[in-house]
Amino acid sequence: MIVLKTARELSVMREACRISAQALELIGKAIEPGITTAELDRLAEKFILSQGAVPNFKNYHGYPATACISINNEVIHGIPTGKRKLKEGDIVSVDLGALFDGYHGDNAATFACGDISDEAQRLINATRESLYEGIKMAHAGGRVGDISNAIQSYVEARGYSVVRDFVGHGVGTSLHEAPEVPNFGIAGRGVRLMPGMTLAIEPMINVGTHEVKVMPDGWTVLTKDGSLSAHFEHTVAITPEGPQIMTKP
Ligand code: MF3
Ligand code: CO
Repeated sequence: MIVLKTARELSVMREACRISAQALELIGKAIEPGITTAELDRLAEKFILSQGAVPNFKNYHGYPATACISINNEVIHGIPTGKRKLKEGDIVSVDLGALFDGYHGDNAATFACGDISDEAQRLINATRESLYEGIKMAHAGGRVGDISNAIQSYVEARGYSVVRDFVGHGVGTSLHEAPEVPNFGIAGRGVRLMPGMTLAIEPMINVGTHEVKVMPDGWTVLTKDGSLSAHFEHTVAITPEGPQIMTKP
C-alpha cells in the first residue's frame, strides 16, 4: 500500500530529512586519509542523537551501525569498523538516515578522500547527476518508470551500469515503504505518481558490470568485477508544485 502524506506529516518528515542531510554532510566534511569508518559513524550517530532523533539503520534487520560506509568497489551496506582507515584516492559512499517523531529520512552520497582519479570523479559526477535527472521526473501524473528510465538512460549513455539487485523505495513512517523505485525501467510504466508520495531515489552505479555479490559478513555488497561504484540518494516529496528534495542540509 502506498501511503500519501499530509502537509502536516511532510513538515515532520522534513525535520527527519534535515537531520539526515546534516549528518551526511558532517561525515562528508570529516572524510580524509587516515580516519576510520567507525570514527565517521560515531560522528553521525552523536549528531543525530543530539537532534532528538534516532539513527534508523541501527538494528534494522540487525544492521550494527548508524551509517553504511562503502569504499571503492563496495556498492552499499559497508559496515563501519575501527580497522578500516580511509586512504588518499578512495571514493567513499555514505548512506544514513534519521527517525524523528515517527518519520524517516534517508540519504546517501559518494565522497572523494583526498585526490581521486579522473575515472572516479567522472563516476561520482554521473551518479549524482543521474539522481537529479530522476528527481526531475518525480512529479504528479508521471509514473515511477519515468524516474527509473531517466536515471538508466543518463548513466548508460556514459558507459556505466545500473545495479539491479537493489532499488529505491517509498519512505515515511517506515524506512522502506511501497512503491519500489528501480534505477532502470521503462518510461510511462509503473505506479502513478501522486502528491503526498515520499520516495527515496537512490541510483547505485558501477563502472563495469551491473552484477554484485554479498560479502561473507552478510551485508557488504561488492561489484562482481571489482570495478568502482558510486551511490547518491535523496528523500523526495511529490507536491502539487513538483518534486521537493527533503534531504537538504
Ligand atoms: N541504505 C538503505 C536504503 O537506503 C537501507 C540500509 S539498510 C541497513 O534504503 F540495514 F543497512 F541499514
Ligand atoms: Co534508501
